[in-house]
Amino acid sequence: MTLLQELESRLAAALTATLGEPTSAAVTAAADLRFGDYQSNAAMVLAKARKTNPRALAQEIIDHLELEGLATADIAGPGFINFRILPTAYAARTAALIRDERLGVPATGAGKTVVVDFSAPNVAKPMHVGHIRSTIIGDSLSRIARFLGFTVIADNHIGDWGTQFGMIIYGWNHFLDQAALAANPIPELVRIYRMVNTATKEDPTVLDACKAELVKLQAGDAENLAIWQQCINVSKSGLQKIYDRLDVKFDHWLGESYYNDRLAGLVDEFVEQGIARESSGAICIFSDGTKPLEEDPFKVHKEEGWTDNPAIIRKADGGFLYATTDLATIQFRIDEWKADHIWYVVGVPQQLHFRQLFDAAARWGKTGDFKHVGFGSILGDDRKLMKTRSGDNVGLIEVLEEAVERAAKAIAEKNPDLQGEEAAKIAEIVGIGAVKFAELSQNRLTDYVFSWDRMLALQGDTAPYLQYSHVRIRSIFRKLDAPFDATAAAIHLNEDAEIHLARLLVRFGEVLPTILEDFRPNLLANYVLELARAFHSFFEACPVLKAEEPTRSSRLALCELTSRTLKQGLNLLGIDVPERM
Ligand code: ARG
Repeated sequence: MTLLQELESRLAAALTATLGEPTSAAVTAAADLRFGDYQSNAAMVLAKARKTNPRALAQEIIDHLELEGLATADIAGPGFINFRILPTAYAARTAALIRDERLGVPATGAGKTVVVDFSAPNVAKPMHVGHIRSTIIGDSLSRIARFLGFTVIADNHIGDWGTQFGMIIYGWNHFLDQAALAANPIPELVRIYRMVNTATKEDPTVLDACKAELVKLQAGDAENLAIWQQCINVSKSGLQKIYDRLDVKFDHWLGESYYNDRLAGLVDEFVEQGIARESSGAICIFSDGTKPLEEDPFKVHKEEGWTDNPAIIRKADGGFLYATTDLATIQFRIDEWKADHIWYVVGVPQQLHFRQLFDAAARWGKTGDFKHVGFGSILGDDRKLMKTRSGDNVGLIEVLEEAVERAAKAIAEKNPDLQGEEAAKIAEIVGIGAVKFAELSQNRLTDYVFSWDRMLALQGDTAPYLQYSHVRIRSIFRKLDAPFDATAAAIHLNEDAEIHLARLLVRFGEVLPTILEDFRPNLLANYVLELARAFHSFFEACPVLKAEEPTRSSRLALCELTSRTLKQGLNLLGIDVPERM
């Protein structure tokens, strides 16, 4: 049980005794430590319902509270109950955490399966900076869910079947440079795609030729299928290199094309069940009229009032769409993988698509907890969408390379002793960690301004600062003559800085589950920053190696637990820690 849960259970007992009927209420971490560690507004809420004085009720509750050995409680303001945890209770908790592999994190996801749909770039196009967000956020959420005990299936739903293949096949036949393809496939595919794009503008017959190639592909033409397959293969191996660098792993890569042969039957089923109907030759899903207009994704408000906003699942020419594939995908994930939850980590511009998708799936009888985890854009210094000098979207690989290069420079300046392979390895860990942390420490819904200097600063809210903090703790242990066994140490907390460090260590298991309530890895990012800051204050105020026993062992054990918690927290953000830097 976390400390918070322990307080909630004791509060529930007191409420039940006070009111004479089973009652429970929430306890939250206090916003301001001057008033205590935790608080509850139970007395205020309950007094309102019973029309009694909240402070008097709070006093009655406190009189019934059994907090022996755990905390003290008092009343504040209009009737808050504030809890202050006893240092001895923190000491006992930290001692238990040292023996706990899970660092006090409850297995809230045990028995549940979640599919995390993230990254999902479109084949034959480079992953752009917008895909950074999906990849990094999705990976972190997957790691957190896994640590919380969920069965996690990370699925890369790549866009491997779309109208772009008409152009790519045409380009393949007319412009392909085989040597360039072999050397570096994705840029070559992008190059031919661009050449065709220009050609279609100069000569309209090229566009018709592209469409013809697409029709042939969709009809199963062997030659075009072979080209398509080759494009997929080279793109996938190019993407895999990026994922390896980012240490991002997928359990599956079931792209759009995987669902091709299910789409015709799906559309028939939707028509038979009356969920979709024909409209100007296309098959569309319309509103079923069961929701208030404001909440109905198949209605839109225009000048003339509320009008239909259907989702097309088959075009008049027989082609299927993104929505059709996504419906088939939901069915597969529920039937084959027994998914209880599906989280889609995709930019905010696709919000309507997902609202329609979830609504249509529910009407089709596919039940589950489906969430669109949206995010805003990445902006350049000028607060406009980030672009390269030539005006293109910035590719993910360029961002990573520049980050690593800059990290290498910073490391060389700070620690010239580091050389060669070791220096390169550290630069990689620091550079990539910096990009990830800059992303994950943001509120995912806001647009964020990309700044090299800010993300690589050693002093600041950055990955290098956190990595450096970890290095600093480990260096304490390198100074010891013999290995230190933290599990054998007794914990004594006397100084404020020690108590504060213990307080944060104990909170790890409380913070983690809350991240998934609204998919906010930034809560974990904030937590590790606070933990690192608490460590530095502790280290400044409290001598460790020079302290007398038993304080010395107690403090060493705190250092050990801090380094494990910091490393685990960073690992859940997908960030590695170097040994030195
Ligand atoms: N390929 C899409 C894009 O880049 C994202 C796919 C997201 N996943 C999904 N099941 N729709 O915009």
